[in-house]
Amino acid sequence: MKALVQRRYGSAVLGDLEVPVPGQGEVLLEVRSAGVDMGTWHLLEGKPYLVRFLGFGFRGPKSPVPGRDVSGVVKEIGPGVTGFSPGDEVFGTCEGSFAEYTVAHVSRLARKPATISFAEAAAVPISGGTALQGLRGVQAGQRVLVLGAGGGVGSYGVQIAKALGAHVTGVCSTPKVELVRSLGADEVVDYTVADFTGTYDLVLDCGGNRSLSRLRKALTPRGTLVLVGAETGGSLTGGFERALGAAALNLFVSQKLVMLMSTERGEVFDELRVLIEAGHVRPAVDREFPLSEGLDAIEHVYSRRSRGKVVVTI
Ligand SMILES: NC(=O)c1ccc[n+]([C@@H]2O[C@H](COP(=O)([O-])OP(=O)(O)OC[C@H]3O[C@@H](n4cnc5c(N)ncnc54)[C@H](OP(=O)(O)O)[C@@H]3O)[C@@H](O)[C@H]2O)c1
Repeated sequence: MKALVQRRYGSAVLGDLEVPVPGQGEVLLEVRSAGVDMGTWHLLEGKPYLVRFLGFGFRGPKSPVPGRDVSGVVKEIGPGVTGFSPGDEVFGTCEGSFAEYTVAHVSRLARKPATISFAEAAAVPISGGTALQGLRGVQAGQRVLVLGAGGGVGSYGVQIAKALGAHVTGVCSTPKVELVRSLGADEVVDYTVADFTGTYDLVLDCGGNRSLSRLRKALTPRGTLVLVGAETGGSLTGGFERALGAAALNLFVSQKLVMLMSTERGEVFDELRVLIEAGHVRPAVDREFPLSEGLDAIEHVYSRRSRGKVVVTI
Protein backbone atom coordinates (compact mmCIF):
# COMPACT_ATOMS: atom_id res chain seq x y z
CA MET A 1 0.00 0.00 0.00
CA LYS A 2 1.04 3.63 -0.47
CA ALA A 3 1.75 5.52 2.73
CA LEU A 4 3.62 8.52 4.00
CA VAL A 5 6.50 6.82 5.81
CA GLN A 6 8.36 8.38 8.77
CA ARG A 7 11.46 6.45 9.84
CA ARG A 8 12.95 9.21 11.96
CA TYR A 9 11.73 12.42 13.53
CA GLY A 10 11.57 15.43 11.21
CA SER A 11 11.01 13.78 7.83
CA ALA A 12 8.60 11.53 5.93
CA VAL A 13 8.41 10.34 2.31
CA LEU A 14 5.78 8.66 0.18
CA GLY A 15 6.59 4.94 0.08
CA ASP A 16 5.25 1.39 0.05
CA LEU A 17 4.40 -0.65 3.15
CA GLU A 18 2.73 -3.99 3.80
CA VAL A 19 -0.99 -3.74 4.46
CA PRO A 20 -1.31 -4.12 8.27
CA VAL A 21 -3.12 -7.06 9.86
CA PRO A 22 -5.78 -6.27 12.46
CA GLY A 23 -5.03 -7.65 15.92
CA GLN A 24 -7.31 -8.42 18.86
CA GLY A 25 -10.15 -5.88 18.95
CA GLU A 26 -8.96 -4.13 15.79
CA VAL A 27 -10.34 -3.66 12.28
CA LEU A 28 -8.56 -3.08 8.99
CA LEU A 29 -9.74 0.17 7.44
CA GLU A 30 -9.55 1.32 3.86
CA VAL A 31 -8.69 4.93 4.60
CA ARG A 32 -10.69 7.58 2.74
CA SER A 33 -9.39 10.66 4.56
CA ALA A 34 -6.96 11.53 7.32
CA GLY A 35 -7.40 14.56 9.52
CA VAL A 36 -4.43 16.77 10.34
CA ASP A 37 -4.03 18.46 13.68
CA MET A 38 -1.23 20.06 15.67
CA GLY A 39 -0.54 16.68 17.27
CA THR A 40 0.39 15.30 13.83
CA TRP A 41 3.12 17.94 13.57
CA HIS A 42 4.32 17.22 17.14
CA LEU A 43 4.59 13.47 16.47
CA LEU A 44 6.30 14.00 13.10
CA GLU A 45 8.90 16.32 14.60
CA GLY A 46 9.17 14.69 18.04
CA LYS A 47 8.71 18.16 19.55
CA PRO A 48 8.34 19.32 22.17
CA TYR A 49 10.80 16.69 23.38
CA LEU A 50 8.34 15.84 26.14
CA VAL A 51 6.34 13.79 23.58
CA ARG A 52 9.32 11.41 23.22
CA PHE A 53 8.95 10.56 26.91
CA LEU A 54 5.21 10.01 26.59
CA GLY A 55 5.44 6.70 24.73
CA PHE A 56 5.52 7.91 21.11
CA GLY A 57 9.14 6.84 20.56
CA PHE A 58 12.36 8.09 22.15
CA ARG A 59 14.87 7.91 19.25
CA GLY A 60 12.34 7.91 16.43
CA PRO A 61 8.57 7.70 15.93
CA LYS A 62 7.07 4.38 17.03
CA SER A 63 4.46 4.54 14.31
CA PRO A 64 5.98 4.34 10.79
CA VAL A 65 3.06 6.37 9.43
CA PRO A 66 1.88 9.81 10.63
CA GLY A 67 -1.72 10.84 11.17
CA ARG A 68 -4.23 9.80 13.81
CA ASP A 69 -7.64 11.14 12.73
CA VAL A 70 -9.22 8.82 10.20
CA SER A 71 -12.38 8.12 8.23
CA GLY A 72 -12.83 5.05 6.07
CA VAL A 73 -14.52 1.75 5.40
CA VAL A 74 -14.05 -1.46 7.41
CA LYS A 75 -12.44 -4.11 5.18
CA GLU A 76 -11.72 -6.86 7.69
CA ILE A 77 -12.36 -7.48 11.37
CA GLY A 78 -9.78 -8.87 13.77
CA PRO A 79 -10.34 -11.44 16.54
CA GLY A 80 -12.83 -10.48 19.23
CA VAL A 81 -14.47 -7.66 17.27
CA THR A 82 -18.21 -7.24 17.68
CA GLY A 83 -20.38 -4.36 16.57
CA PHE A 84 -18.49 -3.62 13.35
CA SER A 85 -18.60 -5.50 10.02
CA PRO A 86 -16.87 -5.20 6.65
CA GLY A 87 -18.43 -2.36 4.65
CA ASP A 88 -19.20 -0.15 7.68
CA GLU A 89 -18.33 3.53 7.21
CA VAL A 90 -16.52 4.77 10.31
CA PHE A 91 -14.46 7.59 11.77
CA GLY A 92 -12.16 7.83 14.78
CA THR A 93 -8.47 7.63 15.58
CA CYS A 94 -5.64 5.20 14.87
CA GLU A 95 -1.85 5.17 14.66
CA GLY A 96 -1.02 5.98 11.04
CA SER A 97 -3.86 7.32 8.88
CA PHE A 98 -1.69 8.82 6.09
CA ALA A 99 -1.92 5.54 4.19
CA GLU A 100 -4.26 3.54 1.97
CA TYR A 101 -4.95 1.14 4.85
CA THR A 102 -4.61 1.27 8.61
CA VAL A 103 -5.72 -0.72 11.62
CA ALA A 104 -7.79 0.86 14.37
CA HIS A 105 -9.03 -0.41 17.72
CA VAL A 106 -12.82 -0.47 17.77
CA SER A 107 -12.86 1.38 21.11
CA ARG A 108 -11.65 4.42 19.16
CA LEU A 109 -14.17 4.21 16.31
CA ALA A 110 -17.77 5.23 15.71
CA ARG A 111 -20.08 5.14 12.74
CA LYS A 112 -19.48 8.00 10.32
CA PRO A 113 -22.16 10.69 10.44
CA ALA A 114 -24.48 10.07 7.50
CA THR A 115 -24.81 13.77 6.65
CA ILE A 116 -21.15 14.59 5.94
CA SER A 117 -18.42 13.43 3.57
CA PHE A 118 -15.47 11.22 4.48
CA ALA A 119 -13.21 14.29 4.26
CA GLU A 120 -15.38 16.18 6.73
CA ALA A 121 -15.62 13.14 9.03
CA ALA A 122 -11.83 12.82 9.20
CA ALA A 123 -11.69 16.43 10.41
CA VAL A 124 -13.80 15.63 13.48
CA PRO A 125 -12.36 13.12 16.01
CA ILE A 126 -9.45 14.75 17.88
CA SER A 127 -10.43 18.41 17.53
CA GLY A 128 -14.17 17.87 17.95
CA GLY A 129 -13.64 15.43 20.81
CA THR A 130 -11.32 17.85 22.58
CA ALA A 131 -13.80 20.72 22.29
CA LEU A 132 -16.66 18.52 23.51
CA GLN A 133 -14.70 17.36 26.58
CA GLY A 134 -13.49 20.90 27.30
CA LEU A 135 -17.06 22.21 27.35
CA ARG A 136 -18.55 19.54 29.65
CA GLY A 137 -20.87 21.13 32.19
CA VAL A 138 -21.68 24.27 30.20
CA GLN A 139 -25.30 25.32 30.85
CA ALA A 140 -27.72 27.16 28.59
CA GLY A 141 -27.42 30.91 29.04
CA GLN A 142 -23.82 30.84 30.29
CA ARG A 143 -21.16 33.00 28.67
CA VAL A 144 -18.34 31.13 26.94
CA LEU A 145 -15.14 32.65 25.51
CA VAL A 146 -13.24 30.62 22.89
CA LEU A 147 -9.64 31.68 22.23
CA GLY A 148 -8.22 30.38 18.94
CA ALA A 149 -11.82 30.15 17.69
CA GLY A 150 -10.77 29.91 14.04
CA GLY A 151 -8.51 26.89 14.57
CA GLY A 152 -9.17 23.16 14.75
CA VAL A 153 -10.42 22.78 18.33
CA GLY A 154 -11.82 26.31 18.51
CA SER A 155 -14.03 25.91 15.44
CA TYR A 156 -15.78 23.00 17.17
CA GLY A 157 -15.71 24.83 20.50
CA VAL A 158 -17.81 27.68 19.10
CA GLN A 159 -20.39 25.35 17.56
CA ILE A 160 -20.68 22.96 20.51
CA ALA A 161 -21.00 25.81 23.03
CA LYS A 162 -23.78 27.28 20.87
CA ALA A 163 -25.47 23.87 20.71
CA LEU A 164 -25.39 23.80 24.52
CA GLY A 165 -27.23 27.13 24.55
CA ALA A 166 -24.34 29.34 25.64
CA HIS A 167 -23.67 32.91 24.58
CA VAL A 168 -20.38 32.53 22.69
CA THR A 169 -17.59 34.99 22.04
CA GLY A 170 -14.88 33.82 19.66
CA VAL A 171 -11.41 35.39 19.56
CA CYS A 172 -9.22 35.10 16.46
CA SER A 173 -7.02 36.99 14.01
CA THR A 174 -8.44 38.99 11.07
CA PRO A 175 -8.39 36.25 8.37
CA LYS A 176 -10.54 33.98 10.57
CA VAL A 177 -13.22 36.48 11.61
CA GLU A 178 -15.70 35.54 8.88
CA LEU A 179 -15.30 31.83 9.59
CA VAL A 180 -15.90 32.27 13.32
CA ARG A 181 -18.97 34.38 12.61
CA SER A 182 -20.27 31.73 10.21
CA LEU A 183 -19.85 29.08 12.90
CA GLY A 184 -22.49 30.91 14.94
CA ALA A 185 -20.49 32.93 17.47
CA ASP A 186 -22.63 35.67 19.02
CA GLU A 187 -19.63 37.98 19.14
CA VAL A 188 -16.29 37.82 17.35
CA VAL A 189 -13.24 39.67 18.65
CA ASP A 190 -10.39 40.29 16.22
CA TYR A 191 -7.52 40.45 18.71
CA THR A 192 -5.33 42.34 16.22
CA VAL A 193 -7.77 45.26 16.54
CA ALA A 194 -8.87 45.06 20.21
CA ASP A 195 -8.55 42.59 23.05
CA PHE A 196 -11.55 40.80 24.52
CA THR A 197 -13.37 42.33 27.48
CA GLY A 198 -15.96 41.15 30.02
CA THR A 199 -16.20 38.06 32.19
CA TYR A 200 -17.18 34.51 31.24
CA ASP A 201 -18.42 31.36 32.93
CA LEU A 202 -16.01 29.30 30.86
CA VAL A 203 -12.91 30.20 28.85
CA LEU A 204 -11.71 27.57 26.35
CA ASP A 205 -8.12 28.49 25.57
CA CYS A 206 -6.91 26.95 22.31
CA GLY A 207 -4.50 29.78 21.47
CA GLY A 208 -2.25 29.60 24.46
CA ASN A 209 -0.43 32.90 24.29
CA ARG A 210 -2.07 34.68 27.21
CA SER A 211 -0.92 34.63 30.80
CA LEU A 212 -2.86 32.82 33.49
CA SER A 213 -3.54 36.12 35.26
CA ARG A 214 -5.03 37.64 32.07
CA LEU A 215 -7.21 34.57 31.60
CA ARG A 216 -8.37 34.57 35.21
CA LYS A 217 -9.45 38.21 34.89
CA ALA A 218 -11.80 37.08 32.12
CA LEU A 219 -13.52 34.59 34.46
CA THR A 220 -16.44 35.10 36.81
CA PRO A 221 -15.52 34.38 40.47
CA ARG A 222 -16.59 30.73 40.06
CA GLY A 223 -15.80 30.47 36.36
CA THR A 224 -13.84 27.69 34.66
CA LEU A 225 -10.67 28.04 32.61
CA VAL A 226 -9.95 25.10 30.30
CA LEU A 227 -6.40 25.12 28.97
CA VAL A 228 -6.50 23.10 25.78
CA GLY A 229 -3.06 23.75 24.42
CA ALA A 230 -0.37 26.15 23.38
CA GLU A 231 2.31 26.42 20.74
CA THR A 232 4.08 29.22 22.51
CA GLY A 233 6.33 27.25 24.85
CA GLY A 234 9.89 26.05 24.31
CA SER A 235 11.01 22.92 22.47
CA LEU A 236 11.42 20.94 25.71
CA THR A 237 7.93 21.08 27.22
CA GLY A 238 6.00 23.20 24.70
CA GLY A 239 4.41 25.36 27.39
CA PHE A 240 3.20 22.42 29.45
CA GLU A 241 4.46 24.24 32.57
CA ARG A 242 1.72 26.88 32.17
CA ALA A 243 -0.88 24.12 32.40
CA LEU A 244 0.90 22.59 35.40
CA GLY A 245 0.97 26.03 37.04
CA ALA A 246 -2.78 26.30 36.51
CA ALA A 247 -3.34 22.85 38.03
CA ALA A 248 -1.35 23.87 41.11
CA LEU A 249 -3.07 27.26 41.45
CA ASN A 250 -6.45 25.54 41.10
CA LEU A 251 -6.04 24.23 44.67
CA PHE A 252 -6.09 27.76 46.12
CA VAL A 253 -8.63 29.78 44.10
CA SER A 254 -12.42 29.83 43.75
CA GLN A 255 -12.20 29.61 39.98
CA LYS A 256 -11.70 26.20 38.39
CA LEU A 257 -8.49 25.94 36.36
CA VAL A 258 -8.38 22.81 34.23
CA MET A 259 -5.52 21.32 32.24
CA LEU A 260 -7.43 19.36 29.61
CA MET A 261 -6.14 15.94 28.61
CA SER A 262 -8.72 14.80 26.10
CA THR A 263 -9.33 11.11 25.50
CA GLU A 264 -10.10 9.40 22.20
CA ARG A 265 -13.09 7.11 22.63
CA GLY A 266 -15.80 5.79 20.37
CA GLU A 267 -18.48 7.06 22.78
CA VAL A 268 -17.18 10.62 22.43
CA PHE A 269 -17.18 10.30 18.62
CA ASP A 270 -20.74 8.95 18.82
CA GLU A 271 -21.80 12.08 20.74
CA LEU A 272 -20.22 14.16 17.98
CA ARG A 273 -22.04 12.12 15.33
CA VAL A 274 -25.36 12.92 17.01
CA LEU A 275 -24.54 16.66 17.11
CA ILE A 276 -23.48 16.58 13.44
CA GLU A 277 -26.51 14.63 12.23
CA ALA A 278 -28.78 17.03 14.16
CA GLY A 279 -27.19 19.92 12.25
CA HIS A 280 -25.60 21.55 15.33
CA VAL A 281 -22.01 20.97 14.20
CA ARG A 282 -20.44 21.07 10.75
CA PRO A 283 -16.71 20.47 10.31
CA ALA A 284 -15.04 23.57 8.88
CA VAL A 285 -12.63 22.08 6.34
CA ASP A 286 -10.20 24.68 5.08
CA ARG A 287 -8.24 22.58 2.58
CA GLU A 288 -7.85 19.03 1.28
CA PHE A 289 -4.43 17.74 0.23
CA PRO A 290 -3.60 14.53 -1.67
CA LEU A 291 -1.51 11.90 0.17
CA SER A 292 1.55 12.85 -1.91
CA GLU A 293 1.35 16.34 -0.34
CA GLY A 294 0.83 15.08 3.21
CA LEU A 295 3.84 16.98 4.52
CA ASP A 296 2.48 20.22 3.02
CA ALA A 297 -0.79 19.55 4.82
CA ILE A 298 1.02 19.21 8.16
CA GLU A 299 3.05 22.34 7.43
CA HIS A 300 -0.13 24.25 6.55
CA VAL A 301 -1.56 23.44 9.98
CA TYR A 302 1.70 24.32 11.70
CA SER A 303 1.80 27.68 9.91
CA ARG A 304 -1.45 28.64 11.70
CA ARG A 305 -2.87 29.88 8.39
CA SER A 306 -5.49 27.15 8.30
CA ARG A 307 -9.06 28.25 8.95
CA GLY A 308 -10.69 25.39 10.80
CA LYS A 309 -9.39 21.99 9.72
CA VAL A 310 -7.11 20.42 7.11
CA VAL A 311 -7.50 16.90 5.72
CA VAL A 312 -5.49 14.54 3.54
CA THR A 313 -7.60 12.60 1.05
CA ILE A 314 -6.33 9.17 0.11
N1 LIG B 1 -5.31 19.12 25.66
C1 LIG B 1 -5.59 18.30 24.69
O1 LIG B 1 -6.05 17.19 24.93
C2 LIG B 1 -5.41 18.77 23.27
C3 LIG B 1 -6.10 18.15 22.23
C4 LIG B 1 -5.96 18.67 20.94
C5 LIG B 1 -5.11 19.75 20.71
N2 LIG B 1 -4.40 20.29 21.73
C6 LIG B 1 -3.53 21.45 21.54
O2 LIG B 1 -4.38 22.59 21.51
C7 LIG B 1 -3.81 23.61 20.71
C8 LIG B 1 -4.83 24.06 19.68
O3 LIG B 1 -5.06 22.99 18.77
P1 LIG B 1 -5.74 23.29 17.38
O4 LIG B 1 -5.80 21.98 16.68
O5 LIG B 1 -6.99 24.03 17.58
O6 LIG B 1 -4.66 24.22 16.69
P2 LIG B 1 -4.88 25.24 15.49
O7 LIG B 1 -5.78 24.64 14.48
O8 LIG B 1 -3.54 25.72 15.08
O9 LIG B 1 -5.67 26.43 16.16
C9 LIG B 1 -5.13 27.23 17.20
C10 LIG B 1 -5.53 28.68 16.95
O10 LIG B 1 -4.93 29.44 17.98
C11 LIG B 1 -4.32 30.59 17.44
N3 LIG B 1 -2.87 30.53 17.75
C12 LIG B 1 -2.06 29.49 17.60
N4 LIG B 1 -0.83 29.79 18.02
C13 LIG B 1 -0.85 31.05 18.41
C14 LIG B 1 0.12 31.91 18.91
N5 LIG B 1 1.40 31.54 19.09
N6 LIG B 1 -0.25 33.16 19.22
C15 LIG B 1 -1.52 33.53 19.03
N7 LIG B 1 -2.49 32.75 18.58
C16 LIG B 1 -2.16 31.51 18.25
C17 LIG B 1 -4.49 30.58 15.92
O11 LIG B 1 -5.52 31.45 15.60
P3 LIG B 1 -5.29 32.97 15.15
O12 LIG B 1 -4.65 32.99 13.79
O13 LIG B 1 -6.67 33.47 15.15
O14 LIG B 1 -4.40 33.56 16.18
C18 LIG B 1 -4.99 29.17 15.62
O15 LIG B 1 -6.05 29.20 14.67
C19 LIG B 1 -2.56 23.01 20.11
O16 LIG B 1 -1.46 23.43 20.89
C20 LIG B 1 -2.76 21.51 20.23
O17 LIG B 1 -1.53 20.80 20.30
C21 LIG B 1 -4.55 19.83 23.01
